[in-house]
Amino acid sequence: MAALKEVDDLSGEEAATELARLVRVIAEHDRHYYQKDAPKISDAAYDALRQRNAAIEARFADLVRVDSPSGRVGTRPAEGFGKITHKVTMLSLDNVFSDTEVHEFAKRVRRFLRWPEDEPLAFTAEPKIDGLSCSIRYEHGKLVQAATRGDGRTGEDVTSNVRTILDVPETLAGDDWPNVLEVRGEVYIPGAAFNEMNVAQEAAGKPVYANPRNAAAGSLRQLDPSISAKRPLRFFAYAWGEVSAPLAKTQMQAVKNLGAWGFTINEHMRLCQSTDEMIAVYQTIEAARAGLGYDIDGVVYKADRLDLQERLGFVSRSPRWATAHKFPPEQASTVLENIDIQIGRTGALTPVAKLKPVTVGGVVVSNASLHNADEVMRLDVRVGDSVLIQRAGDVIPQVVKVLDPDREGRGDVFVFPTHCPCPLKTPAVRERDEKTGEPGVITRCSGEFACPFQRVRHLEHFVSRQAFDIEGLGKKQIAAFFEAGEITEPADIFTLKDHNDGLKIEDREGWGDLSASNLFTAIDERRTISFERFLIALGIRHVGQTNARLLSVSYLSWQQFHEAMLAARDPASEAFTQLNGIDGVGPIMAEAIVQFFAEPHNEGLVERLLEQLQVTDAMPPKSDSPVAGKTVVFTGKLEQMSRDEAKAKAASLSAKVAGSVSAKTDILIAGPGAGSKLKKANELGITVLTESEWLTLIEGL
Ligand code: IVH
Repeated sequence: MAALKEVDDLSGEEAATELARLVRVIAEHDRHYYQKDAPKISDAAYDALRQRNAAIEARFADLVRVDSPSGRVGTRPAEGFGKITHKVTMLSLDNVFSDTEVHEFAKRVRRFLRWPEDEPLAFTAEPKIDGLSCSIRYEHGKLVQAATRGDGRTGEDVTSNVRTILDVPETLAGDDWPNVLEVRGEVYIPGAAFNEMNVAQEAAGKPVYANPRNAAAGSLRQLDPSISAKRPLRFFAYAWGEVSAPLAKTQMQAVKNLGAWGFTINEHMRLCQSTDEMIAVYQTIEAARAGLGYDIDGVVYKADRLDLQERLGFVSRSPRWATAHKFPPEQASTVLENIDIQIGRTGALTPVAKLKPVTVGGVVVSNASLHNADEVMRLDVRVGDSVLIQRAGDVIPQVVKVLDPDREGRGDVFVFPTHCPCPLKTPAVRERDEKTGEPGVITRCSGEFACPFQRVRHLEHFVSRQAFDIEGLGKKQIAAFFEAGEITEPADIFTLKDHNDGLKIEDREGWGDLSASNLFTAIDERRTISFERFLIALGIRHVGQTNARLLSVSYLSWQQFHEAMLAARDPASEAFTQLNGIDGVGPIMAEAIVQFFAEPHNEGLVERLLEQLQVTDAMPPKSDSPVAGKTVVFTGKLEQMSRDEAKAKAASLSAKVAGSVSAKTDILIAGPGAGSKLKKANELGITVLTESEWLTLIEGL
């Protein structure tokens, strides 16, 4: 492309042409940014386009167009919002998709609580609103702060925007609310208001939103609250975060109280005394769905009694006491244009269906996962086929089936590659099941660290939200730095600034002084990182967010963990036994971790990284718990609660729950029928408690 002329050198005619071009280009980028949530250029490059437009308009005032982007304010936030750390994590929900799974959910809850079969256990059922969740804090009845969910722990400060929502009271009604009250619920835009909003957007030559959810997100995340105020945002309250006093004894009553204090609550919420009733409410809500006036994507069930919710607690990031019963996925048909092979972080070859773009449930889909070689064979999809695809929520779209398998002249059967598509073309190997030795489903590139595709995936993972979360360093930037040989392993990220005299990132396409300096700041902010995030970032197989948390609370510091893993290379070591004894760590995960550290390449990678960083220790166990930091083992039959509840309770008191007795065990809780574990504990002189003694020890905690 020819270099752009300086604004000062443009003739009137050239200026007019250029303004027309800029309208098109900027509108196009707005569309990518808003509807597809996938910007094609960096913020800096986008800003440069708008600046050029403004500069030309300043010189040629009579050429300013009615559809000029300069007439629009706040199309895109100029810079980020303040961050708010949630005192109580904002959780997500597990999903179920069938009546059978609803029964299983209810049974799981009963089993955990050891609830007698003949005794009713109440659940609430209510619509699952398809918007974005928000936490609104009141102190002494006054709204003081509002935050988006973000990653669940830290969200964005959207206080001024939330204040503009009519369903959200500035001051609480009544006087029986707790002094600290964080109300949680869903911000959404009703369907009719959404349509009107898009008509107005279109008339003003502005980009339209793909669906109400995106529109709500875009509206809430306006930096200018006067724009939010004009958007038809609404709010349903259905939950809470930090509270200085309990809201009620039941979910139903708590939500009713929120209603009495001035919030809009959903009128379709019902109390159910049986699983059949829950399913009946689901069916009623599903039948009412089209006429509700706002988008919902399922029904949420919650154990009604709040004391039971407390006992049930959480697994990972979802409560055990609630689940979402999702509506069936939306389907559409389209044409399969190609099958690509993508390489994952651990070298897995994943076939991806490249589709003729089609709208499914309000979102344009052009890729769908085909999972693995077996799945491609089972579906027998071939290029040129008409296929049925579906997507449910945020799940990656799936290919359901070929619609015209008997068509004349179909393409060839897809042959799964035998080599990695990376430049090295290393052989791809079909994995074997670690237990049976049977061929597994995954085909993996054998190039490991040599495979450039794997390295790029690993770097992408390293900077991702759950790991280092480096703003300004996304897939696109990683790819460019990798290709230039400037970031080839994680440690290189942290030396980027030192090399910038030579690199001159700010002079490159898509970058500017501001975005380059923002990037260096973002990187510097991550030179201190939590042990948990560091573990996630390493990308050890089977160690995602949940397991990283488990390991970090078990070992507390990187040093202790690292030393233990090096020692655990010897399967006869105490370190190996200890790792395997952690409740939640299975043999496959233990093996993967030990193998990771036994690999010299990984050791080098970690060593170079640690020259650049500080890894902070995990929070020491709560000191007010007498069992904090203690390793406990349960054996025999428990009579007052289920094994799962006992373990979960111990873990919530910062005890480490192990599956086997070793010299590291502090307490064995033995019920009737205890055998070899009890014997071993006695031999080792470990404290042994009955279930009642254990409950007395932790009473009131
Ligand atoms: S309860 C502890 N109730 O669904 C559980 N969530 O997939 C807190 N959502 O992040 C959530 N309607 O944004 C709950 N009636 C409802 C909901 C609801 C929509 C959203 C919420 C949550 C997501 C989880």
